Amino acid sequence: MNVRDALNAAVEVLEPAGVESPRLDAEILLGHALGVSRTELYAEPEREISESEEERLRGFVERRARREPVAYILGEWGFRRLTLAVDARVLIPRPETEVVVERCLERLARLEAPRVLDVGTGSGAIALALADEHPGASVIATDISADALSLARENRDRLGLGGRVELVLGHFDARLPGPFDLVVSNPPYVRPEDFESLQPEIRLYEPREAVVGVGAHAAVARRARELLRPGGWLVFECGDEQAGEVSETLRSLGYGEVTASRDLAGRDRVVEGCWRP
Ligand SMILES: C[S@@+](CC[C@H](N)C(=O)[O-])C[C@H]1O[C@@H](n2cnc3c(N)ncnc32)[C@H](O)[C@@H]1O
Repeated sequence: MNVRDALNAAVEVLEPAGVESPRLDAEILLGHALGVSRTELYAEPEREISESEEERLRGFVERRARREPVAYILGEWGFRRLTLAVDARVLIPRPETEVVVERCLERLARLEAPRVLDVGTGSGAIALALADEHPGASVIATDISADALSLARENRDRLGLGGRVELVLGHFDARLPGPFDLVVSNPPYVRPEDFESLQPEIRLYEPREAVVGVGAHAAVARRARELLRPGGWLVFECGDEQAGEVSETLRSLGYGEVTASRDLAGRDRVVEGCWRP
Protein backbone atom coordinates (compact mmCIF):
# COMPACT_ATOMS: atom_id res chain seq x y z
CA MET A 1 0.00 0.00 0.00
CA ASN A 2 1.28 3.50 -0.76
CA VAL A 3 0.60 6.80 1.01
CA ARG A 4 -2.26 7.76 -1.32
CA ASP A 5 -4.05 4.41 -0.91
CA ALA A 6 -3.55 4.48 2.86
CA LEU A 7 -5.07 7.95 3.07
CA ASN A 8 -8.07 6.99 0.96
CA ALA A 9 -8.63 3.84 3.04
CA ALA A 10 -8.48 5.86 6.29
CA VAL A 11 -10.97 8.43 4.96
CA GLU A 12 -13.36 5.61 4.06
CA VAL A 13 -13.40 4.55 7.71
CA LEU A 14 -13.48 8.02 9.28
CA GLU A 15 -16.16 9.60 7.10
CA PRO A 16 -19.02 7.18 7.93
CA ALA A 17 -17.99 7.34 11.61
CA GLY A 18 -19.08 11.00 11.58
CA VAL A 19 -15.60 12.50 11.99
CA GLU A 20 -15.82 16.19 11.07
CA SER A 21 -12.62 16.50 9.00
CA PRO A 22 -11.82 12.96 7.82
CA ARG A 23 -9.14 13.84 5.22
CA LEU A 24 -7.22 16.17 7.51
CA ASP A 25 -7.36 13.69 10.38
CA ALA A 26 -6.27 10.83 8.10
CA GLU A 27 -3.25 12.90 7.03
CA ILE A 28 -2.32 13.75 10.62
CA LEU A 29 -2.66 10.13 11.73
CA LEU A 30 -0.70 8.76 8.79
CA GLY A 31 2.03 11.33 9.40
CA HIS A 32 2.13 10.21 13.03
CA ALA A 33 2.28 6.52 12.04
CA LEU A 34 5.17 7.20 9.65
CA GLY A 35 6.92 9.79 11.80
CA VAL A 36 6.80 12.43 9.04
CA SER A 37 5.08 15.79 8.54
CA ARG A 38 1.96 16.29 6.39
CA THR A 39 4.09 18.21 3.87
CA GLU A 40 6.32 15.16 3.49
CA LEU A 41 3.23 13.04 2.82
CA TYR A 42 2.18 15.37 -0.02
CA ALA A 43 5.66 15.21 -1.49
CA GLU A 44 5.64 11.40 -1.72
CA PRO A 45 2.15 10.06 -2.47
CA GLU A 46 3.66 6.96 -4.10
CA ARG A 47 5.84 6.07 -1.10
CA GLU A 48 5.20 2.46 -0.07
CA ILE A 49 4.36 1.97 3.60
CA SER A 50 5.52 -1.07 5.54
CA GLU A 51 3.23 -3.59 7.20
CA SER A 52 4.12 -2.36 10.68
CA GLU A 53 3.37 1.26 9.65
CA GLU A 54 0.06 0.12 8.19
CA GLU A 55 -0.71 -1.68 11.46
CA ARG A 56 0.06 1.46 13.47
CA LEU A 57 -2.15 3.55 11.20
CA ARG A 58 -4.99 1.04 11.50
CA GLY A 59 -4.83 1.31 15.31
CA PHE A 60 -4.95 5.12 15.18
CA VAL A 61 -7.82 5.14 12.67
CA GLU A 62 -9.87 2.69 14.75
CA ARG A 63 -9.45 4.93 17.79
CA ARG A 64 -10.42 8.01 15.79
CA ALA A 65 -13.44 6.22 14.33
CA ARG A 66 -14.59 5.66 17.94
CA ARG A 67 -14.34 9.47 18.10
CA GLU A 68 -11.30 9.67 20.35
CA PRO A 69 -9.80 13.17 19.82
CA VAL A 70 -6.76 13.40 17.54
CA ALA A 71 -4.82 15.13 20.33
CA TYR A 72 -5.15 12.13 22.66
CA ILE A 73 -4.08 9.75 19.88
CA LEU A 74 -0.99 11.87 19.17
CA GLY A 75 -0.37 12.36 22.91
CA GLU A 76 0.53 16.00 22.36
CA TRP A 77 -0.99 19.25 21.15
CA GLY A 78 0.28 22.68 20.17
CA PHE A 79 -0.61 25.67 22.31
CA ARG A 80 0.89 29.10 21.60
CA ARG A 81 4.66 28.41 21.22
CA LEU A 82 4.55 25.17 23.20
CA THR A 83 3.91 21.51 22.49
CA LEU A 84 2.11 20.07 25.50
CA ALA A 85 1.63 16.43 26.43
CA VAL A 86 -2.11 15.72 26.64
CA ASP A 87 -4.12 12.65 27.58
CA ALA A 88 -7.47 11.78 29.11
CA ARG A 89 -6.43 13.37 32.45
CA VAL A 90 -6.84 16.87 30.99
CA LEU A 91 -8.92 19.03 28.70
CA ILE A 92 -7.26 19.56 25.30
CA PRO A 93 -6.16 23.21 25.11
CA ARG A 94 -8.36 25.12 22.65
CA PRO A 95 -7.53 27.91 20.18
CA GLU A 96 -9.82 30.35 22.05
CA THR A 97 -7.68 29.85 25.15
CA GLU A 98 -4.74 31.26 23.18
CA VAL A 99 -6.71 34.53 23.12
CA VAL A 100 -6.96 34.36 26.93
CA VAL A 101 -3.15 34.19 27.07
CA GLU A 102 -2.94 37.11 24.63
CA ARG A 103 -5.13 39.27 26.88
CA CYS A 104 -3.11 38.32 29.98
CA LEU A 105 0.17 39.22 28.25
CA GLU A 106 -1.27 42.59 27.30
CA ARG A 107 -2.20 43.26 30.95
CA LEU A 108 1.23 42.13 32.18
CA ALA A 109 3.29 43.89 29.51
CA ARG A 110 4.43 46.79 31.67
CA LEU A 111 5.30 44.70 34.72
CA GLU A 112 8.80 43.35 35.13
CA ALA A 113 8.15 40.49 37.54
CA PRO A 114 4.38 39.94 37.78
CA ARG A 115 2.80 37.33 40.04
CA VAL A 116 0.04 35.37 38.34
CA LEU A 117 -2.52 32.81 39.51
CA ASP A 118 -4.02 30.32 37.00
CA VAL A 119 -7.10 28.63 38.49
CA GLY A 120 -8.02 25.21 37.01
CA THR A 121 -4.79 24.76 35.08
CA GLY A 122 -5.45 21.31 33.52
CA SER A 123 -2.48 20.53 31.24
CA GLY A 124 -0.85 23.74 32.50
CA ALA A 125 -1.54 25.43 29.16
CA ILE A 126 -2.21 29.00 30.35
CA ALA A 127 0.31 29.00 33.19
CA LEU A 128 3.11 27.55 31.07
CA ALA A 129 2.43 29.79 28.06
CA LEU A 130 2.50 32.87 30.30
CA ALA A 131 5.77 31.82 31.93
CA ASP A 132 7.19 31.04 28.49
CA GLU A 133 6.17 34.35 26.92
CA HIS A 134 6.75 36.68 29.87
CA PRO A 135 10.26 35.94 31.09
CA GLY A 136 9.75 37.77 34.40
CA ALA A 137 6.43 36.17 35.38
CA SER A 138 6.06 33.73 38.24
CA VAL A 139 2.88 31.68 38.26
CA ILE A 140 0.94 29.62 40.77
CA ALA A 141 -1.38 27.17 39.01
CA THR A 142 -4.10 25.24 40.83
CA ASP A 143 -6.42 22.38 40.01
CA ILE A 144 -8.80 20.18 41.94
CA SER A 145 -7.65 17.13 39.94
CA ALA A 146 -4.46 15.43 41.13
CA ASP A 147 -4.35 13.59 37.79
CA ALA A 148 -4.40 16.84 35.83
CA LEU A 149 -1.69 18.30 38.05
CA SER A 150 0.56 15.29 37.48
CA LEU A 151 0.40 15.90 33.72
CA ALA A 152 0.87 19.65 34.20
CA ARG A 153 3.99 18.80 36.24
CA GLU A 154 5.35 16.62 33.43
CA ASN A 155 4.79 19.46 30.96
CA ARG A 156 6.34 22.05 33.25
CA ASP A 157 9.44 20.01 33.97
CA ARG A 158 9.98 19.01 30.35
CA LEU A 159 9.76 22.68 29.34
CA GLY A 160 12.23 23.67 32.06
CA LEU A 161 9.74 26.06 33.72
CA GLY A 162 9.90 24.43 37.16
CA GLY A 163 11.51 27.47 38.77
CA ARG A 164 8.68 29.80 37.77
CA VAL A 165 5.48 27.73 37.82
CA GLU A 166 4.29 26.27 41.11
CA LEU A 167 1.50 23.67 40.97
CA VAL A 168 -0.95 23.46 43.86
CA LEU A 169 -3.77 21.00 44.46
CA GLY A 170 -6.83 22.98 45.44
CA HIS A 171 -10.40 24.10 44.93
CA PHE A 172 -11.39 27.38 43.24
CA ASP A 173 -11.77 28.79 46.73
CA ALA A 174 -8.25 27.92 47.88
CA ARG A 175 -6.58 30.60 49.99
CA LEU A 176 -3.21 31.30 48.43
CA PRO A 177 -0.39 33.67 49.27
CA GLY A 178 -1.26 36.89 47.43
CA PRO A 179 -1.18 39.52 46.27
CA PHE A 180 -1.29 38.68 42.56
CA ASP A 181 -1.06 41.09 39.66
CA LEU A 182 -3.38 38.90 37.62
CA VAL A 183 -5.75 35.99 38.17
CA VAL A 184 -6.73 33.98 35.11
CA SER A 185 -9.11 31.07 34.76
CA ASN A 186 -10.72 28.93 32.11
CA PRO A 187 -13.09 27.13 34.47
CA PRO A 188 -15.56 24.40 33.49
CA TYR A 189 -18.58 26.24 32.09
CA VAL A 190 -20.81 23.85 30.13
CA ARG A 191 -24.22 23.58 31.82
CA PRO A 192 -25.14 20.02 32.92
CA GLU A 193 -28.26 20.11 30.71
CA ASP A 194 -26.09 20.82 27.63
CA PHE A 195 -23.66 17.95 28.23
CA GLU A 196 -25.52 15.32 26.19
CA SER A 197 -25.55 17.58 23.13
CA LEU A 198 -21.75 17.91 23.05
CA GLN A 199 -19.71 16.14 20.36
CA PRO A 200 -18.70 12.55 21.28
CA GLU A 201 -15.04 13.66 21.31
CA ILE A 202 -15.78 15.80 24.36
CA ARG A 203 -18.60 13.80 25.95
CA LEU A 204 -16.89 10.41 25.83
CA TYR A 205 -13.24 11.33 26.29
CA GLU A 206 -12.51 14.64 28.01
CA PRO A 207 -12.73 14.74 31.84
CA ARG A 208 -16.29 15.69 32.74
CA GLU A 209 -15.14 17.81 35.71
CA ALA A 210 -13.05 19.89 33.28
CA VAL A 211 -16.06 20.55 31.05
CA VAL A 212 -19.22 20.81 33.17
CA GLY A 213 -19.62 23.49 35.80
CA VAL A 214 -22.09 26.00 37.13
CA GLY A 215 -21.16 29.17 38.97
CA ALA A 216 -17.41 28.67 38.62
CA HIS A 217 -16.77 32.19 37.28
CA ALA A 218 -18.53 33.76 40.26
CA ALA A 219 -16.66 31.54 42.74
CA VAL A 220 -13.27 32.42 41.25
CA ALA A 221 -14.14 36.12 40.94
CA ARG A 222 -15.24 36.27 44.58
CA ARG A 223 -12.01 34.71 45.87
CA ALA A 224 -9.89 36.77 43.46
CA ARG A 225 -11.02 39.97 45.22
CA GLU A 226 -8.95 38.86 48.23
CA LEU A 227 -6.00 37.73 46.13
CA LEU A 228 -5.52 40.57 43.63
CA ARG A 229 -3.60 43.71 44.45
CA PRO A 230 -5.57 46.91 43.85
CA GLY A 231 -5.35 47.55 40.10
CA GLY A 232 -4.79 43.86 39.35
CA TRP A 233 -6.71 42.07 36.60
CA LEU A 234 -9.03 39.10 36.46
CA VAL A 235 -9.19 37.38 33.04
CA PHE A 236 -11.77 34.69 32.24
CA GLU A 237 -12.57 32.41 29.36
CA CYS A 238 -16.30 31.77 29.09
CA GLY A 239 -18.69 29.83 26.88
CA ASP A 240 -20.52 31.00 23.80
CA GLU A 241 -23.19 33.48 24.84
CA GLN A 242 -21.93 33.68 28.44
CA ALA A 243 -19.89 36.89 28.09
CA GLY A 244 -22.82 39.14 29.08
CA GLU A 245 -23.61 37.14 32.20
CA VAL A 246 -19.95 36.84 33.26
CA SER A 247 -19.41 40.58 32.70
CA GLU A 248 -22.44 41.32 34.86
CA THR A 249 -21.07 39.02 37.60
CA LEU A 250 -17.77 40.90 37.60
CA ARG A 251 -19.49 44.30 37.80
CA SER A 252 -21.75 43.16 40.63
CA LEU A 253 -18.69 41.96 42.58
CA GLY A 254 -17.06 45.39 42.27
CA TYR A 255 -14.72 44.93 39.30
CA GLY A 256 -14.31 47.89 36.94
CA GLU A 257 -13.29 48.39 33.30
CA VAL A 258 -15.04 45.13 32.41
CA THR A 259 -14.57 44.26 28.74
CA ALA A 260 -15.06 41.26 26.46
CA SER A 261 -12.74 40.14 23.63
CA ARG A 262 -13.48 37.93 20.67
CA ASP A 263 -12.01 34.58 19.75
CA LEU A 264 -10.78 33.79 16.23
CA ALA A 265 -14.33 32.96 15.17
CA GLY A 266 -15.52 36.43 16.23
CA ARG A 267 -17.40 35.33 19.38
CA ASP A 268 -17.00 37.09 22.74
CA ARG A 269 -15.14 34.45 24.76
CA VAL A 270 -12.77 36.34 27.04
CA VAL A 271 -13.97 38.67 29.81
CA GLU A 272 -11.66 40.75 31.96
CA GLY A 273 -12.05 43.23 34.75
CA CYS A 274 -9.85 45.34 37.02
CA TRP A 275 -9.98 45.11 40.82
CA ARG A 276 -10.09 48.62 42.26
CA PRO A 277 -11.52 48.35 45.78
C1 LIG B 1 -11.90 23.94 31.19
S1 LIG B 1 -10.58 23.09 32.01
C2 LIG B 1 -9.25 24.23 31.68
C3 LIG B 1 -7.91 23.60 31.59
C4 LIG B 1 -6.80 24.56 31.13
N1 LIG B 1 -6.71 25.72 32.02
C5 LIG B 1 -7.05 25.04 29.72
O1 LIG B 1 -7.44 26.21 29.55
O2 LIG B 1 -6.86 24.27 28.77
C6 LIG B 1 -11.02 23.41 33.70
C7 LIG B 1 -10.07 22.87 34.78
O3 LIG B 1 -10.61 23.22 36.06
C8 LIG B 1 -10.45 22.14 36.95
N2 LIG B 1 -11.49 22.24 38.00
C9 LIG B 1 -12.77 21.80 37.93
N3 LIG B 1 -13.42 22.08 39.08
C10 LIG B 1 -12.52 22.70 39.88
C11 LIG B 1 -12.58 23.24 41.20
N4 LIG B 1 -13.70 23.19 41.93
N5 LIG B 1 -11.47 23.81 41.70
C12 LIG B 1 -10.32 23.88 40.96
N6 LIG B 1 -10.20 23.40 39.72
C13 LIG B 1 -11.28 22.80 39.18
C14 LIG B 1 -10.58 20.90 36.08
O4 LIG B 1 -9.95 19.79 36.70
C15 LIG B 1 -9.92 21.35 34.78
O5 LIG B 1 -8.56 20.99 34.74
